[in-house]
Amino acid sequence: MNTFGHFDDQHREYVITNPATPFPWINYLGNEDFFGLISNTAGGYDFYKDAKFRRITRYRYNGVPMDAGGRYFYIKDGETVWNPGWKPCKTPLDSYECRHGMNYTRITGSRNGVEASVLFFVPLHTWAEVQKLTLKNNSKEVKTLKLFSFAEWCLWNAATDMENFQRNWSTGEVEIENGSTIYHKTEYKERRNHYAYYALTNAKADGYDTDRETFIGLYNDFSNPQCVMAGKPANSLAHGWSPIASHYKEVTLQPGEQKDFIFVLGYVENEQEEKFCQVDIARKQRGELISSQDSDVTLVNKKKAHAIIDRFATVEAVDAAFQELNSLWDGLLSKFTVKSDDERMNRMVNIWNQYQCMITFCFSRSASFFESGVGRGMGFRDSNQDLVGFVHQIPSRARQRIIDIASTQFPDGGCYHQYQPLTKRGNNDIGGGFNDDPCWLIFGTVAYIKETGDFSILDEQVPWDNQPGSEVSLFEHLRISFNHVVENLGPHMLPLIGRADWNDCLNLNCFSWDPNESFQTTENNSVGSKAESLMIAGLFVLTGKQYVELCRKIEELKNGKIEVEELSKNFNSSTLQSFNFTSEAQRAQKCIDAMVEAVKKHGWDGDWYLRAYDFYGNKIGSKECEEGKIFIESQGFCTMAGIGLEDGMVEKALDSCKKYLDCEHGMVLNNPAFTRYYVEMGEISSYPAGYKENAGIFCHNNPWVIIGETVARRGNDAWEHYTKICPAWIKDQQLHKVEPYVYCQMVAGKDAAKPGEGKNSWLTGTAAWNWITITQYILGIKPTYDGIEIDPCIPSTLKEYTVHRVLRDAEFDITVKNPDGKESGVKSIVLDGSPVEGCVITATPGKHTVEVIM
Ligand code: BGC
Ligand code: NOJ
Repeated sequence: MNTFGHFDDQHREYVITNPATPFPWINYLGNEDFFGLISNTAGGYDFYKDAKFRRITRYRYNGVPMDAGGRYFYIKDGETVWNPGWKPCKTPLDSYECRHGMNYTRITGSRNGVEASVLFFVPLHTWAEVQKLTLKNNSKEVKTLKLFSFAEWCLWNAATDMENFQRNWSTGEVEIENGSTIYHKTEYKERRNHYAYYALTNAKADGYDTDRETFIGLYNDFSNPQCVMAGKPANSLAHGWSPIASHYKEVTLQPGEQKDFIFVLGYVENEQEEKFCQVDIARKQRGELISSQDSDVTLVNKKKAHAIIDRFATVEAVDAAFQELNSLWDGLLSKFTVKSDDERMNRMVNIWNQYQCMITFCFSRSASFFESGVGRGMGFRDSNQDLVGFVHQIPSRARQRIIDIASTQFPDGGCYHQYQPLTKRGNNDIGGGFNDDPCWLIFGTVAYIKETGDFSILDEQVPWDNQPGSEVSLFEHLRISFNHVVENLGPHMLPLIGRADWNDCLNLNCFSWDPNESFQTTENNSVGSKAESLMIAGLFVLTGKQYVELCRKIEELKNGKIEVEELSKNFNSSTLQSFNFTSEAQRAQKCIDAMVEAVKKHGWDGDWYLRAYDFYGNKIGSKECEEGKIFIESQGFCTMAGIGLEDGMVEKALDSCKKYLDCEHGMVLNNPAFTRYYVEMGEISSYPAGYKENAGIFCHNNPWVIIGETVARRGNDAWEHYTKICPAWIKDQQLHKVEPYVYCQMVAGKDAAKPGEGKNSWLTGTAAWNWITITQYILGIKPTYDGIEIDPCIPSTLKEYTVHRVLRDAEFDITVKNPDGKESGVKSIVLDGSPVEGCVITATPGKHTVEVIM
């Protein structure tokens, strides 16, 4: 059986109908500070801002069975114990459904006349996960059920939680209030000013447990906790070991009756002066409060927790908060919508691709079921790419992200490769030296300005490496970023690769023979290296052109030459006022021209662009190579940048991609795959053939070639590549394995054991890149400094579509008609009834109707 669910476009949900999916199919709760990962069987965990430093509930990656641990409700009906999400008891259900929606998940199961439905979500601007459990008696008898909730606390730092047991098993501390709220206050009395809690808010619990061993039993597991099996809580008090939170409630339901129970799992931070609460001493004396601490002085100040618990103490309040979340998504998804005959494209554009862009914006590559949340924070290049797919949703957040990212840059333009979301400080474990990184700052910033028209961001004073006093304008960061490439050229006047470029696994300067060192962090022996990157060359030309265009635009603004007056009002910094943007644009253009020449002269292999030169100056990605003759990244970037378009290089390179890289499931990264270890190339040759960077279908770089196809004006080819990797087109869900509603980083390539098997779902630059590919390059609705450029490059079979696009204060309804079945080329544009010269429609405030004929 190859189907485990289906799309419900009307509700913007993916509906999973069989809990035994080929891999846990997850969703994300929360989109600001408090987050949860939740699988289709309610597995997963919560954290505040940073999955490493503020892990709230515990999760064990790579366990057996997979995906054990989560937010579980156990229902004991007579002698049978079951869970609404099937796991962990796996008691057969009479019905099961999991609906993953926009930042919420609803799991419904039924058994023997009882239906249990749980809605999980994080209310807007709230540091808590709300769980609304509805129990319904569909039988003809009175039912008395024993209900147990379950959450397991993580001891905050998810990394040490998994390794330092000689300490951990003695530190856990809890408090219990009225039996209904369980506080996790481990390490609170010392340096932490935060705690977590799990509350039943609309009823009084009939018991509780806080000690894992008591609740589950040393020889039991999540599927048969001994308290649940006995139908009786132990009212246990955790002292060290593993603190948990479980409520017990006896529920009687008449035939047809239903009852709602609201649980809130939250996080609180207190000021140092307000950490502890003397008032609680009296409550403790009255027996309302039970603490695992002897000293009353350490009772946590519960004021903020109480406020949230009170706020979500009624079903009406929870439903209203859920409605608010849905309204937020109505708004976010209304900035760009498409209508066409192709419902798969519509659902990707209108729902899932945009949703995934929000998720990658929030998490970069930190926390998924493939990213453990402890290894990687926010990536410099990753976050710059992610925000390009998200900026139209909430521009102000993209703006802040750009500033945060730029603040981790070094004065020479190099940058920390990653930073921690909690501290916003660069991550020393990985350091810097990835020579593509600086270019991405231009890429991200330009996308932000084109979306918003907000040039004032360039005036923002941004430090180097977060050092106070070192601030310069963001524009200066862009200038230095551009220069970083120019100042780091190799023997062929192509960019030196440094530690690596976009391909973290093409490690041309690492030469590692030591299995105990990580390719990612081992020494970068780039001194004296001749290793150059054609990927960076293409990226530099692409983003360099953006930089030049930006400089010219600023000069126009300064001279008041352009019509959109509001823009020039924004742009008023004195340092930038005196800067000569015209000569900067000229200087930059010369550097770009030189790079184009260098690529044509030293970067062309006859039928495609070379990939790189290695440490010694030998070619990588050439016919002359034994393996890895052609690589996708340089084809993508050099075609997007249009290098050699006039000489036929772009088309030739694209044809070579089709010939050597393409297969049924998408384009592989390189071909032929490496079959042995090449010390001079590093991690790329460590992977078995067909996986990851060694000839996997790295979905992230397929859109580069697709955009290249639009540069060559080949709409049919662009479309064919697009549909091959697009989730809505997945045919065999069993083979694809991971979620069929989002892009995954990698699909096993043609050389792998199971071509077409997906891996590493959710957190991938694929989301942002495919978003701009379909909306800007295929459908051709592209934000520019002045408005929107309309330039479709579509399959000839697409005869008509309409796009609703909100840009700044303007709202456009654009109808594109393609009566002659063309692939590109606009014949005429009529804006609000009047013909327009050229392809750009200005973003003047108000509603506009646009008719485009191809
Ligand atoms: C992976 C890359 C990733 C890198 C950085 C490598 O092991 O193959 O995809 O970018 O690690 O963490
Ligand atoms: C995943 C990383 O997050 C990204 O930064 C990198 O470019 C790709 N892998 C390719 O190695």
